[in-house]
Amino acid sequence: MSNLKPIQLTVNGETYERDVEPRLLLSDFLRHDLGLTGTHVGCEHGVCGACTVLFDGQPVRSCLIFAVQANGHQVTTVEALGTVDHLHPLQAAFHEKHALQCGYCTPGFLMALVPFLEKNPDPSEDEIREAISGNLCRCTGYQNIVDAVKLAAEKMAVQ
Ligand code: FES
Ligand code: FES
Repeated sequence: MSNLKPIQLTVNGETYERDVEPRLLLSDFLRHDLGLTGTHVGCEHGVCGACTVLFDGQPVRSCLIFAVQANGHQVTTVEALGTVDHLHPLQAAFHEKHALQCGYCTPGFLMALVPFLEKNPDPSEDEIREAISGNLCRCTGYQNIVDAVKLAAEKMAVQ
């Protein structure tokens, strides 16, 4: 017997209606049902931060939320940030400061940092390090990410 539940949610400004299994994770819904594969899945138990998206504007780990819990809510994924031709200042700063290597962690960092910079447009290095403390990167050693956040803050200040 089918146990599908109807949900309606907004993702990156577009409204979707789908029938989903109650056990379906929001991360899998975004990737497999909507094809938004910019949201990455690392640990699938809330540790690595790779799956971070905005949920009603707040950063959350989409592997810890069921798709049914997103019913009636607004989700923003990394696909909404910028385009190749028009990068978000944070994406441009990551590029300029070499703040990624394999890039697997990058969408999660970006989605955690965008609301952080909106709330704190001139962060100290300690504040930046605290802001990224919930995101794991196996490649960079973090220093270039910290430098990129400082550069992004400068770029956003002059916009
Ligand atoms: S995949 Fe969600 S926190 Fe690691
Ligand atoms: S750039 Fe490879 S995990 Fe962060």
